[in-house]
This record gives sequence, structure tokens and C-alpha cells, in this order.
Amino acid sequence: MREGDIHVDESRQGEAIHIEQPFAPSNGLKMFLESYGCAMNFSDSEIIASIMSGVGYVTTMDETEADLILVNTCSIREKAEERVRNRLKEFKRYKLKNRRLVVGMLGCMAERLKESLLEQEKLVDLVVGPDAYRDLPSLVKQVNGGQKAVNVLLSREETYADVSPVRLDKSGVTAFISIMRGCDNMCSFCVVPFTRGRERSREPKSIVAEAQDLFNQGYREVTLLGQNVDSYKWNLDIKGVIKDSEQPIVRFAELLDMVAKVNPDLRVRFSTSHPKDMIDDVLHVIARHENLCKYIHLPIQSGASSMLKRMNRGYTREWYLDRIAAIKRILPGCALSTDIITGFCGETEQEHLETMSILKEVGFIMAYNFKYSERPRTLAERKFEDDVPEEVKSARLTEIIKHQRSYASVLIQAMVGKVYRVLVEGVSKKSTEKFYGRTTHNIVVIFDKGDLSVCDYVNVRAIDCTSATLKGEVTTDKADA
Ligand code: 5AD
Ligand code: SF4
Repeated sequence: MREGDIHVDESRQGEAIHIEQPFAPSNGLKMFLESYGCAMNFSDSEIIASIMSGVGYVTTMDETEADLILVNTCSIREKAEERVRNRLKEFKRYKLKNRRLVVGMLGCMAERLKESLLEQEKLVDLVVGPDAYRDLPSLVKQVNGGQKAVNVLLSREETYADVSPVRLDKSGVTAFISIMRGCDNMCSFCVVPFTRGRERSREPKSIVAEAQDLFNQGYREVTLLGQNVDSYKWNLDIKGVIKDSEQPIVRFAELLDMVAKVNPDLRVRFSTSHPKDMIDDVLHVIARHENLCKYIHLPIQSGASSMLKRMNRGYTREWYLDRIAAIKRILPGCALSTDIITGFCGETEQEHLETMSILKEVGFIMAYNFKYSERPRTLAERKFEDDVPEEVKSARLTEIIKHQRSYASVLIQAMVGKVYRVLVEGVSKKSTEKFYGRTTHNIVVIFDKGDLSVCDYVNVRAIDCTSATLKGEVTTDKADA
């Protein structure tokens, strides 16, 4: 997920994810937990579920029977906030029927808006920022005692390393592991540094232990999450000075190596990489381990150096292309995806065309495209005018989507005929007779169930494709990738 938002699955963007907790000792109290935005938020919800199950809350999928409703929110674009606000208005109405109901707003919006939703709009009883989840049980108690409760303190240390997340993905195949929190970059469009605070990395041993534990439970894929995974560092301070001479230094390349060694049958993905920080060492580690997936999400945001400067991204078009060349050299066949913002402050037609041309030049299997949405407190809000007309933003977005689709479809078509090692993830939505799984490149493949089970690895020959997925046949032939 990737920078501010961490996209693992485009369909998840902006959608509310409802969370059911498998088991917990109950005190009869029910909690309804709804999560918006990125994978990092989803992963945080697993921490929240764990903390609340410790004080006896069980989750329910039925919001009308809940004693506690928690909404884990996203601030990345204005639309995301609007959606949450409407939902909170709906929840407020439930309070007319159930006077004991407590409604809490968690996550990035809580951090951004602080007391305002509680005091001015009176939409919620509880406001808790991303670094204060340990305080949730006592804050809920405070609300039950008749007070409103707020904790939006950001931390320089909190990583929730010792909290064992309640796994909320019901498939039991793939799981998220949060490896760091916050972001120290100041991309001028982005609200994340203000809502999630300073960057801090989680202790590597606890990450490896979590991956091992997931593997022992039967999981076969983990995604390591951070706003900028390439700047993961353990035992180094901000200036790069070693903190404890008895302890090893662990950067992202070493961490990947450690997690890859948990088991060759545990696939490892990660998100999000930053072009300015992605070094060849990381690529060489990926090349060494088959279970490190050959798929890199590398947000470009714009293809024009002049625009990248206004965005404060810390790289140029040429630098980005150099990183792409390194990936293609060290990891031939590696799939690439990206994020693009259209209509950022002062975007000229020429800059837009440069974005279009880089899409063609690189060849992304997937691009997540967003219209610029001005966010309060960001550098862009303070320094630049949001001056690209809405219709121009929309037209450019449409043009980018159309071209990107055609480039991606050529790449998918080129996969037909080859054999891929696929991790079986679940029953296909379209047919109960079929399974779906993914290749190392994160491409979905549909194939007959046969006598396979979820969590198996199987070789599948791609025999056909749609615009974004492959259809395949199980084979005993050796995999090409
Ligand atoms: N407006 C539009 N898109 C944004 N993103 C981040 N901030 C904004 C914004 N203010 C996009 C970037 C980032 C992705 C997660 O969301 O492309 O990589
Ligand atoms: Fe990503 Fe930049 Fe936002 Fe950090 S500031 S989360 S690097 S887009």
C-alpha cells in the first residue's frame, strides 16, 4: 500500500471492509469495525481487533446489534473523507435506538480533524489517532462513563511490534505484516506525514517471528507494509549513526533476505517502494530468492521532471527510468505497477504528455490513477494553487486510463502460452468449479479446481486472457516463472 495509500487490490480502494473476528473470550459486548483506505489501515484494524478482544469485545458483521462501532478512516483524498462522514451520520442515527452505543473515529481522519467531529459536528464519541490504539480500552471506558474521549498523540516509537494481530482475511492464505509506520518524506500533495507522523521501523526479529507464525498457521503469502519500505532501517538513528554496537544493522535488503528465509513456500510481497530510495541491493536480494515475488509497485506520480520537482518527490524522470532499467536488468520479467496523479497544481499539457509517454516507455502491468485532491496543511496547499480545472483533470485521467489499459493488455497477452507457478487463493467469484490464484507478478489466474486445495502451489499454463486476468490449465510442465 504503498505510499499514502497502500494498494494491494485496486477494488479495495475506498470500499469499506467489514471485519469479523474469528474468536475471542467475550464479555457479551459486540464491536463493529469498518475500515477504509489502504492496506496499512486494514493491517491497523487487525491490531485494533486484537487490542479490543483483550478486553472481551467480539466483532459482529451486523452494525445494528453493536455496542461499539469503530470506523478506521482515510484522509488521502477529499472523497474518502466525504464517504466516511456520510457513514458516521448514518451511525449517529443508530444512537437514537441504542443509547448505549459508542461510535469511534480512528485513523487518519481522527488525526487530521481531532476534536472537530466530536465537538462541532457531534458525530462521534471517541477520536483515536493511529499511534494511540493501545489506549482504546480505557478511552471506551471513559465514554461509557459519560465523557467524550480523544487521543491523537503521534509517537516516534510506537510500532505495535508486540501486539499479535487478529487475522481478519478469512481466506487464511495471505496476510499483511506492518514493518514500519509514518513517513518522513514531504511529497507536497500528501497528507500522510501529518496524519501518521514520523517514520519509524519495527524490530526485525518480531517481523520474522510474525512471518514464521503465519507460515505455521498455514498462510502462504505475506505482504510487508510501510509508507516507504526502502527506507526501513533498524539500529540506525535518523542521521545514519549506529545506535547499539552489539546489534546488527538491518536495512530493507537484509530484512527481505531474513523474511525470505522463513520458508521457501512462503511468498513475500512488499509495498510501497519509493523511486528515490530503491537501491540495487534490494533488487539483488529479490533475484536470489524465488519466493520474493517478481512484482514491484513503484509510484511515479508524474512523468515530467518539472512536475516531480513541484511534487517534492526527490527524483527526476531520468532517475526513475534509471531505476526501471535496474529492475529490468537485475530482475528480467519483473512486473511493474505505479501510481499517477493527474491535474496537480500547474500541470501543463506538455507535462501531461510526458506522463503519457513514460507509461508507454516503462510498460506497467497496472497503474492506479488519481485526480489531484488538495489536502489541508500540505506543502501544495500552502505554496501552490489548485488551478487545473476539474474537467481538464477528468479528461487527462480518462486519457491516461485508456492508454494504460491498452499497454497493460499487450503485456497480459504476452503471458499467454507460458507456464506460471500459482498460489491457490480461493474459489473464483464467477464459477464455483474454478479456483483463482496469482502468479509471482500479481496477475490473477483462473483454472479448474481438480483435486487442488487453497494454499497449494500449482503450475498453470495460461491459455487465454481478459484485460487483466489469465485463464489457465493445470500442467505438470516446468514453470517459466
Ligand atoms: N490527491 C490525489 N492523489 C493522492 N495521492 C496521495 N495524495 C493525493 C492527493 N492529495 C495518491 C498518490 C499516492 C497514492 C497512494 O495516492 O498517487 O501514491
Ligand atoms: Fe508516500 Fe510521499 Fe505521502 Fe510519504 S509523503 S506517504 S512517500 S506520497
